[in-house]
Amino acid sequence: MKADVLLGLQWGDEGKGKAVDVLAPSYEWIARFQGGPNAGHTLWLDGKRIVLHTIPSGIFREECMNIIGNGVVIHPPSLLHEIKELRKHGLNLEGKLLISAKAHLILPGHRLLDQAFESAKGDYKIGSTLRGIGPAYTDKYARHGLRYGDLVGPQGETLFQLAHDEHLRQLKALRSELPLDIANQVREWLDTMAELLTDFAPSDGSWLLNQALDSGQRVLAEGAQGSLLDVEFGAYPFVTSSHTTSAAACTGLGIAPTRIGKVYGLFKAYCTRVGSGPFPTELLDETGDALRSAGHEFGATTGRPRRCGWLDLPALSYAIRLNGVHQLIITKADALSGFDEIKIAVRYQGLDHHQSPYPDRPTDCIPEYQSFPGWKLSPNQSYSTRQQLPPSLQSYLSYLEDQLNLPIRWVSLGPERSQILESQIDGTHAGI
Ligand code: IMP
Repeated sequence: MKADVLLGLQWGDEGKGKAVDVLAPSYEWIARFQGGPNAGHTLWLDGKRIVLHTIPSGIFREECMNIIGNGVVIHPPSLLHEIKELRKHGLNLEGKLLISAKAHLILPGHRLLDQAFESAKGDYKIGSTLRGIGPAYTDKYARHGLRYGDLVGPQGETLFQLAHDEHLRQLKALRSELPLDIANQVREWLDTMAELLTDFAPSDGSWLLNQALDSGQRVLAEGAQGSLLDVEFGAYPFVTSSHTTSAAACTGLGIAPTRIGKVYGLFKAYCTRVGSGPFPTELLDETGDALRSAGHEFGATTGRPRRCGWLDLPALSYAIRLNGVHQLIITKADALSGFDEIKIAVRYQGLDHHQSPYPDRPTDCIPEYQSFPGWKLSPNQSYSTRQQLPPSLQSYLSYLEDQLNLPIRWVSLGPERSQILESQIDGTHAGI
């Protein structure tokens, strides 16, 4: 078997949590391969909103194993909190959630350093979620990070103390004041780590996933953030600190490129972004405000209002190319319901059709738009086929398929599991 990959094609928040939960029944394993608690994957189950930050989104499916891969960075107190919240929903995670021994850890000092670096940047700040992601990946690549499996045994606390002392030295050099409760934070971190290790022994994720594939089981790799936040291919430095594109599923799980099957690319019917950085189709007017309120565009992790704008076709083509997408999933077409006119940026002035200004010239390019008539979805109707959708939405979807030369396999029309329709794929478009 081959592992499929599902990831976001924009700046994150495309609706990956729901999409993975809906696809999960077709898979035995769901595997997170990068990022950390900067992610917020939202699921609505029976009217209840649940946000997952580090745990894979297959956790609500009885038959799925869920693994936090080696490419993820883990903050033990946040992970334990997430586990406890899920237990309150009656979920038994032991034996269903596995944690790779090689996943790196976010220490208390990483969070403090994240804050210190961001405030030192002043107007040039990245708009980080301040979850310690950047400093944790920095330590990983500088080869003095700590991994989940390193904390097993009596030497664990000593290794932690060495790393923590180094962070304190760096914070002192940055003249950063330590919080008064730092000693409590350290104690809590060590206690939660011990509790996690008791319930979730470190796993050899790569071996388990390759064994699963060998024995015919299906694996879905779940991406976090979005392709335009990739540390290499996003508009650097306004990016996250991991690779968010499909190639990272290999390194973040220990699966060879030859074992990657289908790549599902998820995008919203418009664009949003949290944090700083270029956003050429951003709407800084009442239409942007209307999008934000129609789509409830507030960060699932930080609660920050998201920046909103029209769909950017050149950027989408760029992300599709980077990831080798086979099939598309569009979300939040329902949020555009009621808009009289809907726009798509179809090209950039001075650039070839579909040529993207990312990542090198994102600010000096002017998008050119094409207008489409809006649609109205009825809140009382459940749509199960494309033919039942308003004709203007059908044309919008067909236009995107023609332009991107890929089929849109799923159309998500609301936050609940049931609010998604699967398109019949007729082979008209490439990539199948
Ligand atoms: P960091 O990864 O928390 O340092 O944040 C770096 C940039 O990525 C900031 O602009 C964040 O707002 C953005 N970011 C990080 N994680 C997510 C996410 O899961 N969804 C959307 N944006 C994110």
